[in-house]
Amino acid sequence: MNPLILLNPGPVSLSKRVRDALAKEDLCHREPEFSSLQESIRKKLLSIYNLDATTWASVMLTGSGTAAVEAMIASLVPENQRILIVENGVYGERMSKIAHAHGIKYDVLNSDWLDAIEGDKLEKILEQKQFSHVALVHHETTTGRLNKLEQLGKICQRHKVRILLDGVSSFGGENIEFEKWNLDACAATANKCLHGVPGAAFVLVNRAALAAARPPKTVYLDLSTYLSKQDCGETPFTQSVQCFYALNEALDEFIEHGGWSQRNATFQHRMNTIRDCLSELGIEELIDREESSCVLASFKLPSKKTYLELHDELKSSGFIIYAGQGKFSSEVFRISPMGNISEADINRLMCALKSALT
Ligand SMILES: Cc1ncc(COP(=O)(O)O)c(C=O)c1O
Repeated sequence: MNPLILLNPGPVSLSKRVRDALAKEDLCHREPEFSSLQESIRKKLLSIYNLDATTWASVMLTGSGTAAVEAMIASLVPENQRILIVENGVYGERMSKIAHAHGIKYDVLNSDWLDAIEGDKLEKILEQKQFSHVALVHHETTTGRLNKLEQLGKICQRHKVRILLDGVSSFGGENIEFEKWNLDACAATANKCLHGVPGAAFVLVNRAALAAARPPKTVYLDLSTYLSKQDCGETPFTQSVQCFYALNEALDEFIEHGGWSQRNATFQHRMNTIRDCLSELGIEELIDREESSCVLASFKLPSKKTYLELHDELKSSGFIIYAGQGKFSSEVFRISPMGNISEADINRLMCALKSALT
């Protein structure tokens, strides 16, 4: 049993099987065994959302989720084109910082963190100005909001604008419709819904879109450089071999357990149990359940408790929760049901929450 159960939105509590994979034999990233490992991961990632390998490619990176998001934005925006970035939380804002750092021209559609992104506003901006892409976050982990990609994707499709999606905290836990939502790419990481360890990240990219976006704006994060090497079984730079071992094992476990839809059902079940318990204790949610992901929920702190007090009490019972972010840092706490968590752990958590909040 893990001494501490992580209820923060990644890294997650590992299964024994994934943890054991970290200690596999030493391996050089220039050997054929590494090629097979990398290729096995790339194929499994494409299979999660049934993507065709002639149109789509998995590009493996060593780094955290931000590396994947930065690589996606820096690699896919063609020269002299402009993108529209939708901000409704910290991670949308980070995309703007990334575009700025790479000298990419961008406009921002700012949406209140507590409201759904307004389709009408998006439509209006796309009517007025030409953009190559709309960049947005699928699950805004800042609040737990699951942005409505079905609706936003249709609007983008009407205006022939493709989407660059930050799927860091939704990939593997929520449905992602690559073709229907008009995606050119989705950036994600090993250590959230997939239950791997931090250090391996990836971008699932439309091959034609990537090929059209030369020349590179970055050396280390250029997806074209990675893709051309990885298609030949190689890697341009040293990869984090042990994290790849762990991700490969985590993907086997993920597939055996029924893929994204089963993981979604598991997270939803755990999340609803936690929500119901907190609701009985008089704790309100920050946003409506129908607008939230299954991956995380934000709860308003009761007036009699600071975040640190609640965090420390729960930690002494064996659970790590997460603080609010940005303007909500002193008002909310967040809980994520990702990771290797048993029904018994959830029952213990209910007792710990009741004891800390009554
Ligand atoms: C939606 C989203 N995007 C990007 C990131 C950044 O990921 P990392 O901290 O792994 O760089 C996170 C992290 O929680 C996230 O939730």
